[in-house]
Amino acid sequence: MIPVRGTFITFEGPDGSGKTTQVRVLAQWLRERGVQPVLLRQPGGTPLGERIRSILLDSRSDLELGPVAPMAELALMFADRAQSIQQVVLPALERGEIVLCDRYTDSSEAYQGAGRSLGSERVLALHQALCGDLQPDLTILLLPDVEQALERARRRNERFRRQHGGKDENRFEVEGDAFFRRVHAAYAAIAAREPQRVVTISGNGSIETIAHSIREIVQARIAAFVPA
Ligand SMILES: Nc1ncnc2c1ncn2[C@@H]1O[C@H](COP(=O)(O)OP(=O)(O)O)[C@@H](O)[C@H]1O
Ligand SMILES: [Mg+2]
Repeated sequence: MIPVRGTFITFEGPDGSGKTTQVRVLAQWLRERGVQPVLLRQPGGTPLGERIRSILLDSRSDLELGPVAPMAELALMFADRAQSIQQVVLPALERGEIVLCDRYTDSSEAYQGAGRSLGSERVLALHQALCGDLQPDLTILLLPDVEQALERARRRNERFRRQHGGKDENRFEVEGDAFFRRVHAAYAAIAAREPQRVVTISGNGSIETIAHSIREIVQARIAAFVPA
């Protein structure tokens, strides 16, 4: 892997945990301090990735295409990731920029590895093979109560569906409680395994309380970029 100079920060957590909200708030705070972060989401963030996203997140996909096999789902997640690493993440890091990425490989470990029961080892092997094992410098893990996150995600997804003429991003939301408990447990296990990279925030506080905690963590980690 090419040596990198920028800072790679990923946001993780279940659906409705507040990742997208917090990426936006942090990005705005950085801009006010003269730092222009590169924003990215997975799946998505590149033209190829946005196509993959619409397949993987739309609940109609399994009806239109036939049930998407869990292995195919995993492979598509990594196809998206490999593309965004080449097209967006590495170029930005080589320019010395801060990349804020909404989901990354921990999501695959939690959703496909644990949720779909494909196993962490398989996911981590793909990460090594297809992503050059590129690790974030910092991962913010938002972990609100499972029910609270699901409720927020349902309301948000309903709004999305109304605004996008029937297209939705609900495909994972229809999974049962056991699926989301496995996702939640996998995230907690990743945080316990890699405490130097992953900082967990309970995620039950207000948007502003959580944003404040995130700013403190980021400031401590990337003082070189962000003047106090
Ligand atoms: N701390 C919070 N307290 C209450 N509602 C929140 C909080 N963070 C986010 N939300 C709301 O919950 C919904 C899901 O948040 P979002 O950022 O889209 O989550 P994610 O990207 O993790 O799925 C949004 O409608 C958002 O406004
Ligand atoms: Mg989101």
